[in-house]
Amino acid sequence: MKTGEGEKEKESSVKIVPIGIKVGSQNTVITTSDWTEIETTCVKERSNLITGETEYIVGNEAAEMFGDGAEYMLRGGLPGNEEEADLLRRFLGRLIEKYDLPENSYVTYAIPAVESEVGINLFKKVVSQISIGWSGKEIWNDSFLGALALPGGIEIVEKTFLVINLGSTTTEVVAARKGEVLLSAVTGAVSGDLVDRWVKNEILNETRAALNIDLATARKYKEKYANLKSWENVQESVQLFRKGKSSFKISECIIKPIEDYLERLADFVCLEFLPELAETNFSVYKQVLAKEFILVGGMVEIPGLREKLGTIMSSQLGANVTMICPENPVAAPAKGAYTLSKYRTTTTQEQEK
Ligand SMILES: Nc1ncnc2c1ncn2[C@@H]1O[C@H](COP(=O)(O)OP(=O)(O)OP(=O)(O)O)[C@@H](O)[C@H]1O
Ligand SMILES: [Mg+2]
Repeated sequence: MKTGEGEKEKESSVKIVPIGIKVGSQNTVITTSDWTEIETTCVKERSNLITGETEYIVGNEAAEMFGDGAEYMLRGGLPGNEEEADLLRRFLGRLIEKYDLPENSYVTYAIPAVESEVGINLFKKVVSQISIGWSGKEIWNDSFLGALALPGGIEIVEKTFLVINLGSTTTEVVAARKGEVLLSAVTGAVSGDLVDRWVKNEILNETRAALNIDLATARKYKEKYANLKSWENVQESVQLFRKGKSSFKISECIIKPIEDYLERLADFVCLEFLPELAETNFSVYKQVLAKEFILVGGMVEIPGLREKLGTIMSSQLGANVTMICPENPVAAPAKGAYTLSKYRTTTTQEQEK
């Protein structure tokens, strides 16, 4: 060993940077000690018109420039084949460059509870090929990690709790006890994407088939105007080719889809997940019913959704169900992942002292 190398090694071990990354079908979220960034999980592959070389535009830039034309490679939750894994590798590689994420880092990845072994193996291969996480990497269920973003932080790992994760392509419910996921269920029949499709159809009906917006626009309307707390009438007008001016009330086109979504969601939790939990583990079922349900995921960002869902589920279950959510539900799994990375790096460094 050259002189000074020991010192250098010691110094580098002190500077391990904890990072949390949640990879979802719609949003990828990165959290470090100072910041959280949200990027759309998509890539646009195209040939450069000048050089003829293949180039890749990723994330928010690709979503803004190409809308539905960009490829959302994780629609099933994880890569399903080598091509999707390759796009994921390019996507994460570009984000690492963009946000200057260091190699000497400890990275916890938050991923959905998919059963697909192929998907998980492809994901593991991708993370082994990218340049961050030299000091260590872990992969955990994202709903579970979302609970770590609550004010109590890592302490919740010792407890029994229920998380409902409202994503874009899926809804996931997880019952956990002492750091272990006891039961999880996923459905694609309740999802943010479905609401976008219903909003698009409502607008089509309202304008008597004059206006057929794309799904990216429907999602933007939902994200901007969905509000179950205060009702605001928002009118939109468009000038259509050969059809003249057409107006519709966006708020009315959004409210019904959200209400249908909440009904389906409550049915999924109360009529499918909880009965299964009662059958497989009655004591955990009793414990989670006596506590608050934890809500995470992008759809929880809708103002008033948490309270409305609490009311619907309370009436379905004949009990007083309360819901809590971390401060920033869309980023909660990444923040929880960061909390775990931070815990690991702090304990490692304490042991080294
Ligand atoms: N401010 C907002 N208001 C309303 N809806 C929102 C808001 N922010 C995000 N969403 C919706 O939340 C969904 C995305 O949630 P999230 O980021 O948790 O999904 P994901 O984890 O990427 O997807 P999946 O869990 O299906 O893999 C989308 O339907 C999006 O439109
Ligand atoms: Mg998700």
